[in-house]
Amino acid sequence: MAEILGVGAAMRRALALLEGGDVVAIPTETVYGLAGDATNGVAVARIFEAKGRPRFNPLIAHVADLAMAARIAEFDPLSAKLAEAFWPGPITLVLPQRPGNGIHPLVTAGLDTIALRIPRGFGGELIASLGRPLAAPSANSSGRISATTAEAVADDLGDRIKLVVDGGATPVGLESTIVKIEDGKLRLLRPGGIAAEEIEAVAGAKLLRGAAGIEAPGMLASHYAPGASVRLNAEEVAGGEALLAFGRDRVEGWENALAFRNLSETGDLREAAANLFAYMQDLDRSGAATIAVEPIPFEGLGEAINDRLVRAAAPRDKIA
Ligand code: TXA
Ligand code: MG
Repeated sequence: MAEILGVGAAMRRALALLEGGDVVAIPTETVYGLAGDATNGVAVARIFEAKGRPRFNPLIAHVADLAMAARIAEFDPLSAKLAEAFWPGPITLVLPQRPGNGIHPLVTAGLDTIALRIPRGFGGELIASLGRPLAAPSANSSGRISATTAEAVADDLGDRIKLVVDGGATPVGLESTIVKIEDGKLRLLRPGGIAAEEIEAVAGAKLLRGAAGIEAPGMLASHYAPGASVRLNAEEVAGGEALLAFGRDRVEGWENALAFRNLSETGDLREAAANLFAYMQDLDRSGAATIAVEPIPFEGLGEAINDRLVRAAAPRDKIA
C-alpha cells in the first residue's frame, strides 16, 4: 500500500522517488495529480500504467515559474498576459512547444503543442526543488472521478503507487480550465476552476467554444463515470435513488433519497465545485443504483460543474 505523508514530511521522499523515475500522487489546488518527471519517458509511462489509461492522452506539464514555462513553450503576448494574471492557479494554457525543450514526447502524445500550468502550493515547491517539470494527470484510475483528497487517491491507486502526499481536501475541487492559444485566438478546450468570464475579462476577447475534433481527450463522454447511473436536472427523487442537491430548495421526494448531499446550501458555485467529486463518491458508495441531481445554474463555475455532471451521466458504452 502507498505511504501517505503530510506536505511537511513528504518533500524529501517525493524528490527521491521522482529522481528515480517513479510516480508520486501530489495535492494541487484543483485535484490531486499523479506526477512523474516530464523529461523521463519511463516515469511518464508509469503514470499511464498506474492510471490504467487505455490510450496515451497528452498530459499537462506542471512548471514552477514563468521562466521554466518559457523554456518549454512559445508565449505570445496574449498567453503571457493570461499566465501573469492567473498563475499559479487553475488555468492550463496549450501553446506551441519549443523544439529541444527536453519534454518526453509521451507527455504530449507526439503533438507539437503542450499543455502547461503552474500549480499552487506543494506541487510548485516540489517542481522548483526538482528543477524539472512534472507531467501529472488527475490521480484517479482511467474513467473515474478525479480525487480531491489523499484518502480518495489511496483507495483508488494505493496498491499501484508508493507515495501519496496529503495536502488535505483540494480547495478548488475541479480540474483546471484548459485554453488553447492559436493565432492570437483563445479556444476553451475544457471548462474548469477559473470561469470563462474571468478569462475573457483579462483577455479582452471572447473564448471560442467547441474544439475541432477531440483536442482534449479527457473531454470524452463518460470520462467521470461513477458506478451508479446519473440523472440530471431531476425534478423529483424516485425510489432507490440518491440525491445530489444544490441550494436551499429541495425537489419532491427528497426525504426518501437513499443518501443525500448538498453541494452548497447557500447556492455558492465555488463551494459546489469544491464538493462535487467527493460528494459524487459518497453517493456512489451508498449503493444507490442512480444518483439524481438537482438543476445547477450555468453561470461562472456552473459551466464546469455541469460539464462534469453531463459526462458522469453519459452512457457507459461511450467509454473510450
Ligand atoms: O487541474 C488539472 O488540470 C489536473 C491537475 C493534476 O493539474 N490535471 C488534469 O490532467 O486534469 P488530465 O490529464 O486529467 O487532463 C488533462 C487534459 C486532457 O483532457 C488532455 O487531453 C488535455 O489536457 N491536453 C493535454 N495536452 C494537450 C494538448 N497539447 N492539446 C490539447 N489538449 C491537451
Ligand atoms: Mg483526469
